[in-house]
Amino acid sequence: MKKILVLLGTPHKNGNTVKMLDTFLKLLSAEPEQVTVFDTYKENLHPCMACSHCAHHEECAIHDSSDRLDQLIRECDLLVVASPVYNLSFPSPLKAAIDRFQRYFEARFSLGLRPPIAKPREAVLLACAGSPSADGIEIMEKQLRLCFSVMNTQLVGTAAWLSTDKGDDGWEKAKSALERLSLAISA
Ligand SMILES: Cc1cc2nc3c(=O)[nH]c(=O)nc-3n(C[C@H](O)[C@H](O)[C@H](O)COP(=O)(O)O)c2cc1C
Repeated sequence: MKKILVLLGTPHKNGNTVKMLDTFLKLLSAEPEQVTVFDTYKENLHPCMACSHCAHHEECAIHDSSDRLDQLIRECDLLVVASPVYNLSFPSPLKAAIDRFQRYFEARFSLGLRPPIAKPREAVLLACAGSPSADGIEIMEKQLRLCFSVMNTQLVGTAAWLSTDKGDDGWEKAKSALERLSLAISA
């Protein structure tokens, strides 16, 4: 059975991001036991300290729940990044998790591991924004493509829900994007 890891970046348990996520998982017909949610607001990962430990050892020097996240990433077949746009980027708890992916850059370029993560996986971005602009979502895609390039992880696509400040106005468009994205995932 395909293992799905969700990297969740919202503080709102019943908000727009979670509505997108629930819809997407339903479209994939995902069973609850297939899905692990890593809630970055609960896990509260320490920021990367740029200590360079990972340039010399295949690990992060900070042993918090990023160790569990590393294990979950290595095991999953599909990584779902689900997040609102905050100031044209990810909310800080999710950005902290992404910065901690620096260990994979160092594993690749300082330790010479090719690839730093043995198993390949697909990834998708589900993102919502209060404004009609997709600028933040494009930046988030760029950030993910950069770190995924050393994580044996391919960003297959993005579903965006724009103009959430206007309530459900943009939802139908977002739902269509989620449907298209669910079809783009390998069976
Ligand atoms: C701190 C903060 C920063 C935000 N920055 C942006 C932004 O740069 N662009 C944008 O379109 N919306 C921005 N928003 C709006 C959220 O992206 C939007 O309300 C989103 O639908 C919230 O999703 P949620 O219900 O899952 O938390 C911001 C909201 C907050 C709280």
